[in-house]
Amino acid sequence: MEQLNWKCLPFGYIKTDYNVRCRYRDGKWGDLEVSSSEYIDVHIAATGLHYGQEAFEGMKAYMGRDGKVRVFRWDENAKRMILSAGGVKMTPVPEELFREAVFKVINLNKKFVPPYGSGANLYIRPLLFGSGAEVGVKPATEYTFLVFVTPVGPYFREGISPVNMMICRDVDRAAPLGTGIFKVGGNYAASLRALVKAKELGYSSTIFLDAREKKYIDECGPANFFGIKDNTYITPKSESILNSITNKSLIEVAGSLGIRAERRRVPVEELSSFTEAGACGTAAVISPIGKIVDPDKNMIYEYCKDGKPGEVTMKLYNKLVGIQNGDVEDEFGWMTVVE
Ligand code: PLP
Ligand code: COI
Repeated sequence: MEQLNWKCLPFGYIKTDYNVRCRYRDGKWGDLEVSSSEYIDVHIAATGLHYGQEAFEGMKAYMGRDGKVRVFRWDENAKRMILSAGGVKMTPVPEELFREAVFKVINLNKKFVPPYGSGANLYIRPLLFGSGAEVGVKPATEYTFLVFVTPVGPYFREGISPVNMMICRDVDRAAPLGTGIFKVGGNYAASLRALVKAKELGYSSTIFLDAREKKYIDECGPANFFGIKDNTYITPKSESILNSITNKSLIEVAGSLGIRAERRRVPVEELSSFTEAGACGTAAVISPIGKIVDPDKNMIYEYCKDGKPGEVTMKLYNKLVGIQNGDVEDEFGWMTVVE
């Protein structure tokens, strides 16, 4: 293994030693196989390739000061993958198989878990797709489930320094009754036009609005949005966003810190009343937002003008990341030590 510069890791792919795979055929899941290949043999007519019949997850393992590796709320990811599978009519991965695969692949790649204090973590990517051949539009009868891991730094290179985002009104990521609540590839494909445009204009990400009325905040590219005012954590309720596990955890963390929390529709105009804003997710962790630009309305919303994240954002960040790293007592029972 070449020496990795843990402190400067991008959010990208780095080859590790092993991944695990399992196939669903003839009405049952087969054995979990360990592979050292980065490739899979896929049928040219697989539904995952042609009709986007696929779902994935994103989770992290954290190295503690005590040398123990901990995984954050894996059961929530397992449940969400079952929900996503149902969303595109795939055979779901049973929770126990998901658990076995995730813990096995971490154990096999323990040397790739970034050291405590480096700011990097081991990202875990479970993937499920229709691998059976169909040409008509219908669900496959065969599925492939695999899990790979890769060491990563934070998604937004700025880490805990504020990022700038742009509101996007000319692309919808997901329709109200579409697949936005599922973690399926099609949503990410649909987001690319907006994301590339935002990047070209110098923004870290795009903020999507509700597709029906374009009145309310949906989410921030691959992360949920939150705003803060009057010691209250406010996050959008929407039928077209991913139900972030980080976000729902932050609502509980907020409660434990005496910060109120509200999940409700967030009108775009309300952006002007927030004193802090941020994006949250497994990859994004908590990324404070410095500025939100709404080019179509000629509006700029600014937060943390001194270039530093706000006080409430930092309180939430320190407690959540403290729990994940094993530094703060896990009062919610969220962490599982990898044995
Ligand atoms: N929203 C989208 C579209 C995402 O891809 C993610 C990442 O998984 C999130 C939000 C954050 O969800 P979580 O906190 O469960 O990682
Ligand atoms: C995650 O936060 O885990 C995600 O899956 C985001 C990703 C699409 C980069």
